[in-house]
Amino acid sequence: MGRLAGKTVVLCVTGGIAAYKAADLTSKLRQAGAQVRVLMTQSATQFITPMTFETLSGYRTVVDTFDRDFAWEVEHISLAKAADVFVIAPATANVIAKAAHGIADDMVTTTLLATKAPVVIAPAMNTGMYDAPVTQQNLQTLRARGFHIIDPAAGRLACGDSGRGKLPDTPTLLHGIEQALAPADLAGLRVLVTAGPTQEAMDPVRFLSNHSTGKMGYAIAARAALRGAEVTLVSGPTALDTPHGVQRVAVTSACEMYDAVVSRAPAQHMIVKAAAVGDYRPAQTATEKLKKGDGELTLTLARNPDILATLGQRKQPGQLLCGFAMETQDLLDNAAGKLRRKNCDMLVANSLRDEGAGFGTDTNIVTLLFADGRQEGLPIMPKDELADLILDRLLALRRQA
Ligand code: CTP
Repeated sequence: MGRLAGKTVVLCVTGGIAAYKAADLTSKLRQAGAQVRVLMTQSATQFITPMTFETLSGYRTVVDTFDRDFAWEVEHISLAKAADVFVIAPATANVIAKAAHGIADDMVTTTLLATKAPVVIAPAMNTGMYDAPVTQQNLQTLRARGFHIIDPAAGRLACGDSGRGKLPDTPTLLHGIEQALAPADLAGLRVLVTAGPTQEAMDPVRFLSNHSTGKMGYAIAARAALRGAEVTLVSGPTALDTPHGVQRVAVTSACEMYDAVVSRAPAQHMIVKAAAVGDYRPAQTATEKLKKGDGELTLTLARNPDILATLGQRKQPGQLLCGFAMETQDLLDNAAGKLRRKNCDMLVANSLRDEGAGFGTDTNIVTLLFADGRQEGLPIMPKDELADLILDRLLALRRQA
């Protein structure tokens, strides 16, 4: 969510019963660090008051171009320019029709016409109005013009009908807004990411594992999806929510991860192996709970397959392979060895000894190593920013190839 921080979101609320949901959106955008400037149509004020948005956004809500008390009123152009992203949620059939035809007769539509920012429209209305050919045609016009349309959800509507027309929940709206802010430079690419720890069962009760939380891999999957890639996330057990627009395949052990990854690998343009895969598993998994005895217990471990090395051996032409290495000593030498042995194009090396790097943190400090011997040391940065940077470097390698 960090990528909304510092962005100016112009949020236009138009007159439908879902207008109240825009209050939660305002609040969540602000929590994510965005500045929210709310514009309302006159009819929206019949459903929710401007004061609600003023309190939540910390800015004056602008209702129409004839509001003489407020500096913005003759300066809708300033708001149009200030916007990093322009959102209409909920968008009525009426505002969609006006937007499609360039009609500018209130604060919302005049500002919309003037903005160069990406525009996100979240239609919400009665099913019949939404399905009406003219509304669909207007939405098509806007899509063709590059507007981002967030499809309404289906369900029971306020009018008692059932069908498409509900304003989607806040996480879906936030995803749509983040997507509009992100470049669509991974569109058409399939990206597979692995994340989290593996668990190797000793018996039905116990397992061997590691401290990975999955944050780095999930951040990469989320950012790749926002940038337009078709993302598969093969994940060991974590407490994280599946990022929007990502297909998650849940696995437990290294052998399960091997099967899930190797079977999907040939179709991928990029594979990023951020998972902390257990190198060993108990040679035998007891079917019943192991009972303690009086003396020591010796556990025999069997080697797990190396997924990344297998992918390296079977790399498809043009496919890019990115590995990770976490080390406690000789970071760069060890990492360079792994890059070579596993036939990676890029390797992200981090040291568990660095403050601000490693398991469970929201930041990371890494050095990127490339197959041609280049190295790029990076400063401490949030994991979602690093996720974008890793994807940028992979995209650059793809463009070079
Ligand atoms: N990896 C893998 N399969 C394994 C072990 C590791 O795919 N069985 C991948 C990890 O996902 C990571 C990279 O290999 O991208 C490096 O993992 P790491 O544990 O640092 O390296 P190992 O090869 O296991 O070396 P060592 O444990 O000896 O440091």
